[in-house]
Amino acid sequence: MTSVWEFLAERFPVEKMDLQHMVQGKTVPVHRMSWAYYLGGITLFLFLIQVVTGLMLLFYYQPTVNDAYESVQYITEEVPGGHIIRNLHAWSASAMIFFVLAHLVTTFAMKAFAKPREVTWLAGIGLLLITFGFGFSGYLLPWNQIAVNATKIGLQSIEAMGQYLPASMAHLPTQLKEIIQGEASVGQATLSRFFVLHVVVLPLLSFGLIGIHLFSVQLHGMSKGVPGEVKKTEKFFPTFIIKDFSTWGAVFFIMFILAVTLPFDAFFSFPLMDPYNARGSTPDGIKPEWYFYMVYSPLEMLPYWLVMLAVNGGIVVLLLAPWIFQHTSIKTLRTLAIGFAFYFVIITLFGDVIYHLVKGGM
Ligand code: HEM
Repeated sequence: MTSVWEFLAERFPVEKMDLQHMVQGKTVPVHRMSWAYYLGGITLFLFLIQVVTGLMLLFYYQPTVNDAYESVQYITEEVPGGHIIRNLHAWSASAMIFFVLAHLVTTFAMKAFAKPREVTWLAGIGLLLITFGFGFSGYLLPWNQIAVNATKIGLQSIEAMGQYLPASMAHLPTQLKEIIQGEASVGQATLSRFFVLHVVVLPLLSFGLIGIHLFSVQLHGMSKGVPGEVKKTEKFFPTFIIKDFSTWGAVFFIMFILAVTLPFDAFFSFPLMDPYNARGSTPDGIKPEWYFYMVYSPLEMLPYWLVMLAVNGGIVVLLLAPWIFQHTSIKTLRTLAIGFAFYFVIITLFGDVIYHLVKGGM
């Protein structure tokens, strides 16, 4: 108990909790990796876009299996500006995932998880998992073919974990799937649960974690981020904040142009966008969102247990990073981060090609 208290007292020093220390006196290091200090702010801005556009969609969206599809169609085709708000929500969701991953990779490469920033890092991992949770739960809400079938596949892959666990624990994944699904098959109970997760539970958790995350960032200042001594700094307020807001303006401009010109679902073929038909056959081409390809593509090629071991092991390593990598040099961390980024880009862009090559060779 005392050691937990000591740990927290060191990470949240009360004597530093004042405006002078956390805002007016704060400085930001200036070096060749300084661009990475803007990635967290951009993620925050995209989250705010999601909150505002999500609230607007809620005025019309109906979370029932009979009305969900039509209500989304109504938003897109009848409500003035509805298609822009829906596209903005969908494009910003993808952009948020991209930036949260870029922020994770760069803070890792800059060793920003090291003491005294462990709590900032752990809150960040929580936010990462929540962001993926937003993606998974939001995908089901339009209740079209791709949404319902992709959700079924996602839930089945949770259940499949049971066969690799010891007998006493083998039922747990099935139980977890049933709790999430709410009934024998994906249906109204599932839609209600995903809806509540997407619009109430995950947003509330995000507000709490973002609060802790930003408070500890302000308390400890930005980490140095590069090996050696940093000679130049700039004031956080107003210099860095003005630049931060300028990046937000640029991001909004890009998101808005995308939302006006390019419907997000233009990338899917028509049968996938049909209303879900429980008695119909599953159309070809069912896939999760692009940001799940890093798990989905290997699942198509490698044994299930191996991929799940890598995913769960990866999450544990990330959670323990402040302790596992406390003596690792920034140079080594940077190499690991570049390795992950390389894997992510290749598997996301060329997962299909690699799958066909591997299958053709067998
Ligand atoms: C919704 C998701 C997130 C939001 C809104 C967010 C926001 C921010 C902001 C505004 C900053 C300060 C500016 C910066 O250094 O970029 C920051 C710093 C930081 N974030 Fe995040 N973040 C999120 C997710 C994550 C994730 C997934 C991680 C990694 C596990 C993470 C780890 C960190 C760390 C370690 C810092 C301190 C950086 C330093 O001291 O140099 N964050 N975050």
